[in-house]
Amino acid sequence: MDRAQPTRSAFLDVLDGTVVDPPPFWMMRQAGRYLPEYREVRAQAGDFLTLCYTPKLAAEVTLQPIRRFGFDAAIIFSDILVVPHALGAQLTFEAGEGPRLSPVADAAALAGLSDRLDPAKVEPVYEAISMVRAALSPEVALIGFCGAPWTVATYMVAGRGTDDQAPARLLALRDEALFQRLIDMLVETSIAHLAAQVTAGAQAVQIFDTWAGVLDPASFERWCAEPLRRIVAGLKAIHPDVRVIAFPKGATLEALERLADTGINAIGLDWSADRPAARARLSGKVALQGNLDPLRLIAGGAALEAEVARIRADFSGARHIFNLGHGIRPETPIAHVEKLVEAVRRGR
Ligand code: CP3
Repeated sequence: MDRAQPTRSAFLDVLDGTVVDPPPFWMMRQAGRYLPEYREVRAQAGDFLTLCYTPKLAAEVTLQPIRRFGFDAAIIFSDILVVPHALGAQLTFEAGEGPRLSPVADAAALAGLSDRLDPAKVEPVYEAISMVRAALSPEVALIGFCGAPWTVATYMVAGRGTDDQAPARLLALRDEALFQRLIDMLVETSIAHLAAQVTAGAQAVQIFDTWAGVLDPASFERWCAEPLRRIVAGLKAIHPDVRVIAFPKGATLEALERLADTGINAIGLDWSADRPAARARLSGKVALQGNLDPLRLIAGGAALEAEVARIRADFSGARHIFNLGHGIRPETPIAHVEKLVEAVRRGR
């Protein structure tokens, strides 16, 4: 945070402590089905996991949105469920249905998993990162990522996404010790996965906690904040200079405040966040990233431009990275993304 040396990347400068205006800009899920060039490579790969595990193809789709829109950061194309897959869980993605995993609902299922990442699964991710870093200009930063242990655990326990991730919440209540073992395993393997991504060329990492918003305060502290603290400490012990962004979707402002002193460099806000309140309570400690509602990007029009101006004004003078409040959706018109890029960059 106190790094005085400017880098050549506006995105990294904001994470390191500088205010940059207009703010650097990237979009969660910026490589994906809203892009025809993505759909073409995806069809060529045949299925989603083959795309994730083929370095040349993963590198290509990572670079597509950079070429098209000139974002300030690329995020490596992969998935948060690569970690459970590399621990031995079965994983498939059914078209239109989302992920299916072999569920971890009891001690026997947990014992059936490895506590180390299978190199055959994760090495292609690191290789793709090296390829992307070599292809990017120094002004464009490269982000690695993983899912937060809580969010990954919710998919592992249910074997799929559910409306409220009740299966994991129930397991945590019924068998706390077992659930803690699962979280501990994910903390250790997430540190290893992130550290290897940084070694391969990622300059920042984002930890996606999509399901942080379904927990009560004490459970949030135990299953989200504490594991995050351990991951940041473990990762920064290996790579002291790496920047960490946490994205705890749906977390209350009180919960976000508990994350601000975990050693992270930025917090990603979802679209429900009250920006002035978040700024007042968090921006002394961390940079803020976000938070355009992805539905506003689908709707487009004058309301989109007005909201972009409001977001920029609300964070003016603070360390801000412009982003969506969650991933871009497949039905988003490309013309609206072009308008967004223009509006975010106005004045650059
Ligand atoms: O941001 C990027 O461009 C990098 C790529 C990325 C993907 N998934 C690619 C993907 C990232 C960062 C993720 C994270 C991820 N994956 C999260 C956390 C962020 C979030 O969106 O909440 C979660 C919960 C997952 C798990 C996952 N992967 C689900 C629930 C699904 C199905 C829903 C969907 O959007 O299709 C996926 C599949 C997935 N991951 C796709 C992409 C581009 C779509 C698969 C396809 O192309 O067929």
